[in-house]
Amino acid sequence: MSVETTLDIAAIRARFPILAQTENGQPLVYLDSGATTQKPDTVIEAVRDYYRHDNANVHRGVYALSERATEAYEGARDQLRDFIHAPSRKELVFVRGATEAINLVAQSYGRAFLQPGDEVLITELEHHSNIVPWQFLREQIGIKLVVVPINERGEVPLADFEAALSDRTRLVAISHMSNALGTINDVTAMARLAKEKGAKVLVDGAQAIAHLPVDVQAIGCDFYVFSGHKMYGPTGIGVLWAREALLEQMPPYQGGGDMIHTVTFEKTEYNELPYKFEAGTPNIAGVVGLGAAVRFMQSLDRAAIEAYERELLDYATEQLQNLPGLVIIGQARHKAAVISFKIEGAHPHDLATLMDQDGIAVRASHHCAQPVMQKFQVPATVRASFGVYNTFDDVDRLVASVQEALDMLV
Ligand code: ALA
Repeated sequence: MSVETTLDIAAIRARFPILAQTENGQPLVYLDSGATTQKPDTVIEAVRDYYRHDNANVHRGVYALSERATEAYEGARDQLRDFIHAPSRKELVFVRGATEAINLVAQSYGRAFLQPGDEVLITELEHHSNIVPWQFLREQIGIKLVVVPINERGEVPLADFEAALSDRTRLVAISHMSNALGTINDVTAMARLAKEKGAKVLVDGAQAIAHLPVDVQAIGCDFYVFSGHKMYGPTGIGVLWAREALLEQMPPYQGGGDMIHTVTFEKTEYNELPYKFEAGTPNIAGVVGLGAAVRFMQSLDRAAIEAYERELLDYATEQLQNLPGLVIIGQARHKAAVISFKIEGAHPHDLATLMDQDGIAVRASHHCAQPVMQKFQVPATVRASFGVYNTFDDVDRLVASVQEALDMLV
């Protein structure tokens, strides 16, 4: 099947060298972008060229190399500011990924501004990164963790979300898009409702950032976090965006070089934003690669990416649900790029192992979201998750491979 899109998918695919290789003697069909996306040539080259030509520490040297490294590092921050439509470059803190960003908010904002009995509201959709840091805070300072349940489609009904808000809700931490089910939350409406209660809002954009246009001002949240490696960039680098006024009030998360203005044994004065939160030599090559990933995504039309992936998802859903015994887990009316399923009588790991023999890479696991699995009473699902490089042909190969595995296992 083919579809009309303004994107030249063949040209996009050609930019991902890994997609040209074979696995187990079969052309690779990569359907695990929810775990990590593949990297285009420009990202790979940016990291390589940085190490070959510009490597030096940032913010420290007056020599040309260090100035070039600093320009590349700070230039990427400007690109990311534009990418998520943040009001100020001071509001973007480079971290290791979405997980570190959420831990930073919990430990810095949470410990400084939340009191015992204050409520942090999350949803049953969250992955572990947006559960465990709040449990730490519960143990450390006695906050109450309130969980909004999901319905049988894997959605968080807005009315249930609103009902779970209370006068004690101080912080709402919600995923923009579920990694396990693909559900897209109406984070703009949720942020508005939470704000009416005076709560701060953190949106976990780890999955959404590669699939949906993101405008932090339009969403109206206070914190937005994401990882570079899920948006065609390198691993080990991500972004915490937070409102400047909040970052100003928040204490540093880690101490070390670069986050200080002056140090004596008696007293340390902290650096200005965003450096107050960037202790130690940062992942400069990662930032440079992330800048290249932003340019890659901006060279495509993000609304076109969303529309194309929607077509892929609809097609995959239609084809897979025709297979006997296959049940799609997560049928949200608003979802993207992820299809999770189980098959009666076949263990997800066995299915994925057989599919690997056909060169198909899918994830079979609890997807670091065990409460979602508990909700649907499954130990794990097989998950196919898409990137902009996937094709309708990939879906056909996925479906044929599942059918073959079914014939063998069931
Ligand atoms: N959160 C990642 C995934 O969904 C690891 O696979």
